[in-house]
Amino acid sequence: MCGIVGYVGRRPALPILLDGLRRLEYRGYDSAGVAVLHDGRLTVARAKGKIVALEPRLHGVSPTGTTGIGHTRWATHGAPSEANAHPHLDCTGGLAVVHNGIIENYLELKDALLLKGHRFLSETDTEVISHLLEDAYDGSLEVAVRQVATGLRGSFALAVTCVREPGLVVGVRRGSPLVVGLSSGESFLASDIPAILNYTRDTYILDDGEVAVVTPDAVRVLTIDGRPVLKPVFHVTWAPEHAERGGYPHFMLKEIHEQPRALADTLAGRIERGIRLDELDLGPDAAKALDRVFLTACGTAYHAALVGKHLLERLARVPAEVDVASEFRYRDPLVRPGDLAILVSQSGETADTLEALRECRRRGARTLAITNVMGSSVAREADTALYTRAGPEIAVASTKAYTTQILVLTLLALKLAELRGRLEPASLSAYVGALTRLPDMARSVLDANDAATRELAAAWTERDDVFFIGRGLDHALALEGQLKLKEISYIHAEAYPAGELKHGTLALVVEGVPVIALATQVALREKMASNITEVKARGATVVGVVREGDRDIARHCDHLLTVPPVEGLLVPVLAAIPLQLLAYHAAVARGCDVDKPRNLAKSVTVE
Ligand code: M6R
Repeated sequence: MCGIVGYVGRRPALPILLDGLRRLEYRGYDSAGVAVLHDGRLTVARAKGKIVALEPRLHGVSPTGTTGIGHTRWATHGAPSEANAHPHLDCTGGLAVVHNGIIENYLELKDALLLKGHRFLSETDTEVISHLLEDAYDGSLEVAVRQVATGLRGSFALAVTCVREPGLVVGVRRGSPLVVGLSSGESFLASDIPAILNYTRDTYILDDGEVAVVTPDAVRVLTIDGRPVLKPVFHVTWAPEHAERGGYPHFMLKEIHEQPRALADTLAGRIERGIRLDELDLGPDAAKALDRVFLTACGTAYHAALVGKHLLERLARVPAEVDVASEFRYRDPLVRPGDLAILVSQSGETADTLEALRECRRRGARTLAITNVMGSSVAREADTALYTRAGPEIAVASTKAYTTQILVLTLLALKLAELRGRLEPASLSAYVGALTRLPDMARSVLDANDAATRELAAAWTERDDVFFIGRGLDHALALEGQLKLKEISYIHAEAYPAGELKHGTLALVVEGVPVIALATQVALREKMASNITEVKARGATVVGVVREGDRDIARHCDHLLTVPPVEGLLVPVLAAIPLQLLAYHAAVARGCDVDKPRNLAKSVTVE
């Protein structure tokens, strides 16, 4: 949802801004721009398209100034175009703004500014900010930014620079993320940590309503109404190479292959004579008193939450409801004090998930975030945060975040089961044993399915529709399989509970249509076998995702993808992997831009 960067220091700002933008491109990539303060004026370049389209605009004009801001856009107001690309300037051309978020009252602000004679050059909501700053500026950019921010409705992270105060960038956030990078003789602003990892790991993570006054040698943080804030330095543990492609053609493939490591890291220190979740401040009495859990998330994280529901109900025997976060608040949910609300979000910044969290807090629930990004909004606002330790996930299509989310939900379900006295010690230790083997098993799933998925996907280059079917946990997985395929290969895909297909959608299954049948759950095999024969009878080509050695299901399928015969509740982490590979190879075979699928952005920070 747009990435913003800012730099002040002693080095030329431009290469640092471009490097930061490249690393934030996953947040939006329909246009990009930079503004660099140079020789007492702002040099601005903007282009429609990805950062590569911006670079030629800078040939021959590359400014050497040491203060600048940049932006990569995911359009909300105004089509992707050069005119709508950020930075946006005021009428004098001496003040530039980049923005991530949406200004909801921009039309009324714009009308008032037009009456005052301001000239607008774009259709964006953002441009009102530069003109408001122009009017508010009275010798202090910090004061002008605080004043203007007070009158904005909606969500924003802004970075602003102006010719009258060289060596200064002012940032402010409300509802959209903003991080300050601290280093010797230089400072940074960015929407996300990977943009600054090459330069520093010491940061201030700004909270909503905070302003950062950023100069090369000092950063002051204050509230929008001007009160100083004493900010602790947050040291990032991710290494710069975590945010590199590391020899892989795409981040997505790298991240798929990182899963054995990500799973091992997520388990580290959490298995010790049972499950150890130190962050979870919940004793046996509170766990036993728990009678409802609400899980809320978006997209892939929602699919992980669906798996979580099965695990919590089956292991901990606690009823669990799952909602798409964008729907949750609008159904007046029956959340009450004592309930546990679990918010799942890789980025920890998804606007709808964050709002769902706030709604649960307002209603008195205990809130628990499962997130991958330390210091993210969801992590900070929840009562407790359980981190997945997947490392930075850069590809828009979520892979290692999903499997580690499921792993954390599994640990949580097992811990609650233990605390609630719902699991025999022998069963618990069997689960614990299997969990420790999961990273190795994930490695073997990668090896076993890479060639087969590549071959299958090669035959799908002209396909219009693919169906995914499964029952129980396999249905939750099927939903993730279809999303992965759609979002990066643009093949239309739908997932159904296997028994539901014949209530309508079976009409679409004709000769040659691929049906991915997930049949990893032993108790449901016979029913799945019947559903597979139903689609086979209509001419479908069936790809079975099965436990190794399951001949009964295998004989009904045309092709097989396999997972080791692990305990059923632990299968989702492994069975997700062939589905990810299938989607990846299909997208490559169709010539799609795997890491930057059309119309999408990694972090959805608008509702
Ligand atoms: O950062 P979050 O986990 O909150 O993001 C939620 C979704 O936007 C995300 O999972 C999205 O569906 C992915 N692109 C799917 O691959």
